[in-house]
Amino acid sequence: MTIKLVTDKKIAETSSKGNQEKWFDSEENVWYKLDLFGYEALAETVVSKLLKLSNIEENGIKITDYDMTKVMVHKIERTACVSKNFLKDGEEIITIAALLRKGIGSEYIRNIEKQSSLQKKIDYIVTNVEKLTGLDGFGEYLTLLFETDMLFLNDDRHLNNIAVIRKENKFDYCPLFDYGAGLLSNIRDYPLDIEAKGMIKNVVARPFNCNFVRQMNAAEKLYGRQFEPDFTNDDVEKSLENVDEYYSERYASDFKDRIKVCIKTQRNKYR
Ligand SMILES: Nc1ncnc2c1ncn2[C@@H]1O[C@H](COP(=O)(O)OP(=O)(O)O)[C@@H](O)[C@H]1O
Ligand SMILES: [Mg+2]
Repeated sequence: MTIKLVTDKKIAETSSKGNQEKWFDSEENVWYKLDLFGYEALAETVVSKLLKLSNIEENGIKITDYDMTKVMVHKIERTACVSKNFLKDGEEIITIAALLRKGIGSEYIRNIEKQSSLQKKIDYIVTNVEKLTGLDGFGEYLTLLFETDMLFLNDDRHLNNIAVIRKENKFDYCPLFDYGAGLLSNIRDYPLDIEAKGMIKNVVARPFNCNFVRQMNAAEKLYGRQFEPDFTNDDVEKSLENVDEYYSERYASDFKDRIKVCIKTQRNKYR
């Protein structure tokens, strides 16, 4: 299906990876995120399907559903993923970066950096977010993000990509979203002619700019394991079923192969 967008409101947001172009359709109340450097929309969609096959929702955290689609933007057909607006009336998203900046001042960055270990840095963030929001269990939520980012190689979890929902003065958890940088989707940074296996080792985790397993282990030491994936190789195949509808023959099979290698490699590290 091709959808013509009725709004030209482009949302600007700083991101280390550059911004995936996003459009909000106010009539349908949905967000579209367009492919930028590779197959970001596909990565977002595949991850959302696989996250559903886990204990996450049982534990009270929601997952944003993304689906593949095509949109006409400036008369050009583009591949995108679409998700329902998860904000209800009166709610807004507050990024952790904005929350800490407002609550502590911009020195929060220095305060994090001067903590003597990764665990202390995580604890600093968690303690302050809980204090500023009144939320319970932010450490567990952050651990879940680090675990899922490691499994799907999402290297864009900077503090502007971790957020909470605010409604007046009450805070709540955001549904999991924004994994589009995962699965080596940026083929400018991770060219298709280089073997995935070799690049996977060098992908750097955010926000602490270290190895994914190290970042995840530090959080798990503090808050315990959160994420229990429950998907099979067949489920991965199924999540890739319609790729040919959205990408040319030249690319589709490469994208699928790479996604499978990423998930298999990372899952072996998630024991
Ligand atoms: N499904 C959604 N519901 C509510 N807000 C959304 C949704 N998708 C995107 N947004 C808004 O757009 C911003 C950027 O979306 P995000 O998925 O983080 O894109 P990017 O890949 O550019 O970081 C979010 O912080 C949020 O404000
Ligand atoms: Mg984002």
